[in-house]
Amino acid sequence: MARCSVWRRPVVLPLCWKDELTTLGVRCSSSMPVVKSFNEIPGLWKNGVANLYNFWKLDGFRNLHRIMSQNFKTYGPIYREKIGYYESVNIINPEDAAIVFRAEGHYPRRLQVEPWTAYREYRNRKCGVLLKNGEDWRSNRVVLNKEVISPKMLENFVPLLDEVGQDFVARVHKKIKRSGQNKWTTDLSEELFKYALESVSLVLYGERLGLMLDYIDPEAQRFIDCITLMFKTTSPMLYIPPGLLRRIGSKVWRDHVEAWDGIFNQADRCIQNIYRQLRQDSGMPEKYPGVLASLLMLDKLSIEDIKASVAELMAGGVDTTSITLLWTLYELAKQPNLQEELRAEVAAARAESQGDLLEMLKRIPLVKGALKETLRLHPVAVSLQRYIAEDIIVQNYHIPAGTLVQLGLYAMGRDPKVFARPEQYQPSRWLKTEAHYFRSLAFGFGPRQCLGRRIAEAEMQLFLIHMLENFRVEKQRHMEVQSTFELILLPDKPILLTLKPLETSL
Ligand code: HEM
Repeated sequence: MARCSVWRRPVVLPLCWKDELTTLGVRCSSSMPVVKSFNEIPGLWKNGVANLYNFWKLDGFRNLHRIMSQNFKTYGPIYREKIGYYESVNIINPEDAAIVFRAEGHYPRRLQVEPWTAYREYRNRKCGVLLKNGEDWRSNRVVLNKEVISPKMLENFVPLLDEVGQDFVARVHKKIKRSGQNKWTTDLSEELFKYALESVSLVLYGERLGLMLDYIDPEAQRFIDCITLMFKTTSPMLYIPPGLLRRIGSKVWRDHVEAWDGIFNQADRCIQNIYRQLRQDSGMPEKYPGVLASLLMLDKLSIEDIKASVAELMAGGVDTTSITLLWTLYELAKQPNLQEELRAEVAAARAESQGDLLEMLKRIPLVKGALKETLRLHPVAVSLQRYIAEDIIVQNYHIPAGTLVQLGLYAMGRDPKVFARPEQYQPSRWLKTEAHYFRSLAFGFGPRQCLGRRIAEAEMQLFLIHMLENFRVEKQRHMEVQSTFELILLPDKPILLTLKPLETSL
């Protein structure tokens, strides 16, 4: 719907306008006394440059999530802001999120990660689904949905992910043995990164990288370095136009290009391997060959489109799950009794499912609640964003079509009006006792939600099953960790955890 000019005037509309708006198709919240104009939304949105300066002074780049929470405390459940050239309306209530998602239109669009699109332009490469928009996004996403997020695919993914989970446990046992102390105290972030990369690589490429071994193949190590470098170089470029950094030949831009080159080269190599294999074995492969080979055999997307989306799935599929698992272990280490409860659930599920892993995954609601609880307190994404496709009314303010609206996920997860005693890590809150309407949004919502959701969920659930069956997790007494924003939310310091084998840790 086009923007209608009346909304730009700072007028207070009479009550009867609500009915007219509704008939016009403008979405409204139900208890709406008067509709106020867009320009009446509270917040600092008049001077983007001054706001950028203040944001920088507050170390906003790393504190984005805390600043957002503070702004909701200052302005209430809706505020408008402009930082540099980014302008948005920010909301926190689940009911308002529902209004926004209903107005996302046929081709939902969110904030672009500029450095990533700049690389594609620079190298004249195609964007994958993460960065595509419009009909191009939709037609690719429809094909990918079937191969990546349809529930049926779990049958293929679960045995592969379970294999990596078992190898991780074997690796931890080995580390414990080597320590000679019957325990292993370490910052697990690197190990979890390797676990996540090995998992996603096996599902996508049907190939083990060998990262659970002591000796890491230099090519695999190079790929790890590229993924790390790609993330590390993204956040410094978020608020500076990448075009400028490119023109001045800055190191951060050159490193970013080198990192993406490495990621795309890996996809290239895998495509060539798969073609070679397909030529050798005539007919359908006996076992599931991975997402990439399935897409190539399906022949519904161009090779360049497949390569772009698979490279993005690799890039989006590592830190997201590894950091969530690290936060989960950290939270469980604080609550030994909760660990026991989860362990009992896993043991019962293992016994009842008699070796059928898919059945087992249906019987672990508390483990799933634990992962939701982790993502409530430590969401990977600070906010979900949509450019709304039609005019809406939220908190009695009119928001015109085309506006960027952000749902503060981190702030919502910690808001006592949304979650009772939000500071407490309570997986049982997800077992149907509280209202969940638009509250579990860590993977986004609707047709543009996380494409890797099923892979991520299965990978994390299987990991927790294996860890709970084998180890107790402990942490040092007074260690409290906060989060810092670096495109995704990361722990602000290393999390040292101690893993003890179950049979001897009593
Ligand atoms: C804990 C794990 C993860 C979390 C919390 C997470 C979260 C998200 C969120 C919030 C979005 C944006 C959704 C929206 O705008 O509605 C997203 C998009 C996406 N994620 Fe994930 N993600 C995770 C793991 C993964 C994994 C493992 C992969 C790949 C295997 C992946 C691939 C993607 C892709 C490709 C998109 C873009 C989809 C599109 O635009 O159509 N994610 N993710």
